[in-house]
Amino acid sequence: MIEYQAAAKINLALRVTGRRDDGYHCLDTLVTFTEFGDVIRVEQANDISLKVEGPFVEELSNNRDNLVLKAARLLEQAARDRGINVPGASIYLNKQLPIASGIGGGSADAAAVLKALCDLWRINPVSVDLKEIALQLGADVPMCLYSKPLTATGIGEKIEPVALAELNIVLINSGVHISTPDIFNALARTGSPALPPVGFQYSNDELLDWLQNTENDLQAPAIGLAPEIQTVLNTLMETDMCQFARMSGSGATCFGLYSSFEQAKSAANDIGQRNPDWWCVASKTIST
Ligand code: C5P
Repeated sequence: MIEYQAAAKINLALRVTGRRDDGYHCLDTLVTFTEFGDVIRVEQANDISLKVEGPFVEELSNNRDNLVLKAARLLEQAARDRGINVPGASIYLNKQLPIASGIGGGSADAAAVLKALCDLWRINPVSVDLKEIALQLGADVPMCLYSKPLTATGIGEKIEPVALAELNIVLINSGVHISTPDIFNALARTGSPALPPVGFQYSNDELLDWLQNTENDLQAPAIGLAPEIQTVLNTLMETDMCQFARMSGSGATCFGLYSSFEQAKSAANDIGQRNPDWWCVASKTIST
């Protein structure tokens, strides 16, 4: 049995720098990942199957459209195209991350299953061009394959590692669903400049300064479509010792940063008690 963690993806900052002819948007984004995430397990079997458990299981379609199954079938096909015969796999997904919520849950699951199946089926990722398979599955899947602090440009596939320290983070999702294409379509402009460079091994204070001088271009259109995202951001900012709050990706999950993990846990508990319908988690980010 092989197990991989599918970490939540946090866009600490995101600028939309242009739009391609095919409608996809060009991004410049600083991304980190949390220790908290979904879990993928794979075992040898005669064909490919998926079992899902966890708090968000009901929202996830357990059929061919599921990104995990799509990822497994694409890898199986890529292997066969190269004359590598692979058996099946029984895949288990423990779904802890809210669905379609700007923290890359589905993309992280797809990336984790690609890595797990390469191990299980003894496939060299380079021999099947795993990064290309990841990009076919979605713009965020290549960065989830990497799963360490990075900057991404292009539509998200041009990845550069970044040296970032561990951050203490709270993730909040109020349950409001907004569609990613709708958010991109609601953008007033798509020509933001590139993000300022991220210094090597920034201290926490240096990173906070950098964050104050950047933005998530998708946050304003998302709040326009779902004003309660602003309520979530205000709630985070009002907690004791919150250093910074912003929406991740196309939302609606927002994150808050704290100087200690104890403070992050206490903020998540406090917000969760006052808003029992909200999803609230304290975690640490994965450092370089
Ligand atoms: O690639 P993914 O399936 O995650 O993207 C979902 C949708 O989000 C795309 O169909 C597109 O409308 C929009 N998108 C975009 N530019 C990106 C990423 C996503 O316009 N860089």
